[in-house]
Amino acid sequence: MSELYIGLMSGTSLDGIDAALVDFDNDSIRLVDFEFQPFSHEIKTVIQQLSKADALISLQDYGRLDTLLGYLFAEAVHSLLAKANIQAASINAIGSHGQTVYHAPDSILPFSLQMGDPNIIAEKTAIKTVADFRRRDIAAKGQGAPLVPAFHQAVFGGSNKHRCIANIGGIANITVLPASSSLVPVIGFDTGPGNTLIDQWIQRHKHCDYDLNGVWAKTGTINYEWVTALMKDAYFTAPAPKSTGKEYFSLDWIERQCAVDRYRPEDIQSSLCYLTAVSLCEAIKQYAPATEQVLICGGGIHNDYLLQLIKQNLSCQVVSTEEVGIHPDHVEAMAFAWLARQTINHLPGNLKQVTGASHAVILGGIYQGISI
Ligand SMILES: Nc1ncnc2c1ncn2[C@@H]1O[C@H](COP(=O)(O)OP(=O)(O)OP(=O)(O)O)[C@@H](O)[C@H]1O
Ligand SMILES: [Mg+2]
Repeated sequence: MSELYIGLMSGTSLDGIDAALVDFDNDSIRLVDFEFQPFSHEIKTVIQQLSKADALISLQDYGRLDTLLGYLFAEAVHSLLAKANIQAASINAIGSHGQTVYHAPDSILPFSLQMGDPNIIAEKTAIKTVADFRRRDIAAKGQGAPLVPAFHQAVFGGSNKHRCIANIGGIANITVLPASSSLVPVIGFDTGPGNTLIDQWIQRHKHCDYDLNGVWAKTGTINYEWVTALMKDAYFTAPAPKSTGKEYFSLDWIERQCAVDRYRPEDIQSSLCYLTAVSLCEAIKQYAPATEQVLICGGGIHNDYLLQLIKQNLSCQVVSTEEVGIHPDHVEAMAFAWLARQTINHLPGNLKQVTGASHAVILGGIYQGISI
């Protein structure tokens, strides 16, 4: 029987809101429609300020941003429904990831903070809304991340090939999917920076959001020695399970490692692309040496230079998730539709071997869509 869910995702790259309308029909998972709503420059700036490790923000500004994002998520749902010509009453539930402003799973009092009030989403759309997915896993001693591997397993698992899914958003994460005959459990973790450092560097030097198709990075020369030194960072050498955020992989982090002014900015850009590529590829080689096929999703796939570096550093096949039926820009939002469905059906959404949680948990809180 067909069941419709909506997934809302706005990742650490702060590009905007992805909204996916997904049809679950027995074992099939199909995208019905998709909507992307970019964030305005003003919103990006506020979220960027809030996400800094040493951010000073008033509780009023915090509360206002939470409310504003709630309205923006609700608007994204409305425009998705209008585009698909579907009534709100046909939707089982929304899964809203929220906007991560801080991810600190390893602090003494661990937390992961997402904003975008789900009360507003439920009220404005009249659709049941599942949100706050990460904190139950953290309460069960997990990292609260990554949460997409269970969905990757549901849509890309069961192949006769040893696969690895690499999602290159702000942060990059992998899901290792052994071939169907294998008894090895699925693992996954954040490998380190995805686009975040590349984006932040070009924003500083060229005042644009990202390096379109990696054109600027292609003009530079990789400083291999510098990247080798960066790869010694404790995050890369720490064993999985592990997760990270842009509070850690920031321009401050780069500046602590070397005097960036000594190099041409375009050389740093190429080197940061190499850092993303090599940290991802090394993680695959170490944790999934049998991989035959790497499926890439997330915005990083559009950076030709980055993709070329990934292909050069792996000996297996590297292709887009589109090859197996899902556009790389749609995977993450679809995952939150799937996670909402898990919660509504009282099923767990985390994989304990991925997040490090002590047990599988039903993720998120449920906000009823119908007012009495
Ligand atoms: N044409 C392009 N050329 C180069 N880079 C691109 C292009 N299109 C998108 N990107 C990169 O992809 C990023 C957005 O990717 P995505 O939406 O997957 O990240 P995200 O929202 O942070 O998601 P996640 O939750 O996985 O961190 C942009 O910030 C940019 O770096
Ligand atoms: Mg995005």
